[in-house]
Amino acid sequence: MSKGEDKFRKIIAHCKEYGFIFPSSEIYDGLSAVYDYGQNGVELKNNIKDYWWKSMVQYHENIVGVDAAIFMHPMVWKASGHVDAFNDPLIDNKDSKKRYRADVLIEDHIASLEQKIVKEVTKAAKRFGDSFDEKMFLETNPRVQANREKIDDINVRFVAAMENGNLQGLRTLIEELEIVCPVSGSRNWTDVRQFNLMFSSQMGSASDGASQVYLRPETAQGIFVNYLNVQKTGRKKLPFGIAQIGKAFRNEIVARQFIFRMREFEQMEMQFFVKPGEEKEWYEYWKEQRMQWYLALGIPKELFRVHDHDKLAHYANMAVDIEFEFPFGFKEIEGIHSRTDYDLGAHQKYSGKKLQYFDPETNERYVPYVVETSIGLDRTFLAIISHAYREEKLDDGSERMVMNLPPALAPVKVAVLPLVKKDGLPEKGRAVFDKLKYDFNCQYEDKDAIGRRYRRQDAIGTPYCITIDHKTLEDGTVTIRERDTMKQERIPADNISSVVAKRIALRPA
Ligand code: GAP
Repeated sequence: MSKGEDKFRKIIAHCKEYGFIFPSSEIYDGLSAVYDYGQNGVELKNNIKDYWWKSMVQYHENIVGVDAAIFMHPMVWKASGHVDAFNDPLIDNKDSKKRYRADVLIEDHIASLEQKIVKEVTKAAKRFGDSFDEKMFLETNPRVQANREKIDDINVRFVAAMENGNLQGLRTLIEELEIVCPVSGSRNWTDVRQFNLMFSSQMGSASDGASQVYLRPETAQGIFVNYLNVQKTGRKKLPFGIAQIGKAFRNEIVARQFIFRMREFEQMEMQFFVKPGEEKEWYEYWKEQRMQWYLALGIPKELFRVHDHDKLAHYANMAVDIEFEFPFGFKEIEGIHSRTDYDLGAHQKYSGKKLQYFDPETNERYVPYVVETSIGLDRTFLAIISHAYREEKLDDGSERMVMNLPPALAPVKVAVLPLVKKDGLPEKGRAVFDKLKYDFNCQYEDKDAIGRRYRRQDAIGTPYCITIDHKTLEDGTVTIRERDTMKQERIPADNISSVVAKRIALRPA
């Protein structure tokens, strides 16, 4: 097992043990790729939402929020292109009976060739030491060149096949690249078929004339269909944005990697409506802003990278992914897309209602262009806990497990812990807790030795523990213990709230 796999397993186990995430309907053996957030998970998740909402809506005068219904008129999904084009190409291995996304098999093959290049570079850098010229090596080494040519050739054919919906082309690539099933090891593949990812259901009873409805596969369409409502009632001038947080549903073929790819998940999306021709400028602006949002959490820059799309979605003219280095490698966490007037134009056509903007400066009417930022809430959760999870060896030889969460996002901000469960300390502790609970999500704990209670709080990422001891009864001071340094200092009990508030403050980008 690789180091990354080992860490990932530990994170999943930790999430369950400490009430962050449980498999859905676990007593019935779970439901594939569906998860429930537990008592600590829901707090962390709500704090992430709050951080996003504040930085998008509260701190941008020209962005407002909505909360649209999950069910929408079925024509919405016809107009958006999801009925016809929201497909993944799937392929089955006849021996293992396992199902794969054909595009993912090819992408993984490309990634393994990229990995070979990285290995050549690492080996050469070691051999040549300080005199190593990486650029020159990449340009001249025959093995690197051969792999680079292979990658370029595959990419050209892959992108063409995906863009033209050429399923036979994908199948031919899989055969020619001799891609084997990771389970059976065989190359006994079926044909590639398109698979629509939307879940559908019936609304109303059959006698009523039931109509097919979909569980929304993205929250964005709830924003598009409300564009005019918000623009008119909010008297909004371009450029302005509409933000939304909500559930989305996709019948993923390959649902794996814990909460990374789920069938029911949450998105935080913002559609920024701009004058046509200004989309490039706003696209660059939002790329920069969104990156700053992550960095403000104190997560190192090296754990992120941006990846421009080779293959654009059916609605985009520019698109980039922000990727995060999860324990299983760099993967998409957020997409920033320049969606042109594709969506508003299509809704205008299908609904027969005008969705134009009257520009008071030029006296023109036009359909605005849209730059979208679309971030997966669950993937952000996974990124934050993956980065926060630490196993530390302490100076005294003991070990501790600590969640190094950004304090503002921690489920519990303060734990109030009487040193012993006697001598009036629990009563004093309760009094401190009862005051603090109006300011922060706090916990009161008086069971077990103080050391064990500190460890339990470290494991859920509580940034501050307040200890009530005998001195507290004498002079009204308490100790405040900081999670990461484990340092303690004495402060007046009356100051706890202001001290903690100052230390956990997070000013979003
Ligand atoms: N409105 C544009 C849109 O939905 P997307 O790239 O398909 O774009 C945006 O999705 C984000 O939603 C992704 O970057 C990812 O973080 C999250 N996401 C997509 N599918 C997901 C899934 N099955 N499970 C968890 N998160 C998912």
